[in-house]
Amino acid sequence: MRFRSSKEHAMTLDLAVIGGTGVYALGELADVESHQPVTPYGAPSGPIRVGSYAGRRVAFLARHGEGHSLPPHKINYRANLAALKAVGATRVLAMNTVGGITERCGPRVLACPDQLIDYTWGRISTLCEEPGSEVLHVDFGDPYTPALRNEVIAAAKRANVALVDAGCYGATQGPRLETKAEIARMRRDGCDLVGMTGMPEAGLARELGLDYACLAIVANWAAGAGPDVDEVITLQDVLDNVSAAMDDAARLLRAMLAV
Ligand code: HPA
Repeated sequence: MRFRSSKEHAMTLDLAVIGGTGVYALGELADVESHQPVTPYGAPSGPIRVGSYAGRRVAFLARHGEGHSLPPHKINYRANLAALKAVGATRVLAMNTVGGITERCGPRVLACPDQLIDYTWGRISTLCEEPGSEVLHVDFGDPYTPALRNEVIAAAKRANVALVDAGCYGATQGPRLETKAEIARMRRDGCDLVGMTGMPEAGLARELGLDYACLAIVANWAAGAGPDVDEVITLQDVLDNVSAAMDDAARLLRAMLAV
């Protein structure tokens, strides 16, 4: 199987960033080239923007497409990661917009989870899908690459950005939000955060041999989890809270790259 052409893979990247809901571009990316590699799994969500960020070579991909046209269950996660690998990525920082379940994870908090639980279903979640493909049983005990997580945590400290430095991400199917009972169950399961895109992305990154960590941006209290148990979650609140947290996320990212 081939993942890259020699032209596309001319230079390695310092980091690839995947943006989630509300994060459709990296503001300070300069000298941008666009790539749309064809992968064995099909086309990625949109162009991969490769450029210079904080003096380093960074790729950016909007997970839902730059115009947010793809719901979580329709994203071609395999193509996205294979395309990032094709342009030279070895390390992926996944930004995920999430709901907060536990007390420390209120709106506008940034978190770097260390565990996840997969509640999704019906998504192509492995490279071993096609007949004849190599059967892989990758270790996934620590679903996020510990060394890359440590870099995120150290960068937050250097940049003086508040970060919840552990926690469990629960990946739900969406696109609807969860019921209060579903969130109560997830809390009992040990989830701190809930999002719709964390899986199969993390598992596929491991199968592809990519380092992968999650920078979660809490956009709202998950259903029934906040002080107002009857609060209705609106898209506008989600986007406003992500936008408000983006300054801190960008400072963290700059600190991570400026080493
Ligand atoms: N649930 C699932 N995904 C989300 C949420 C939520 O409350 N907020 C943002 N993404």
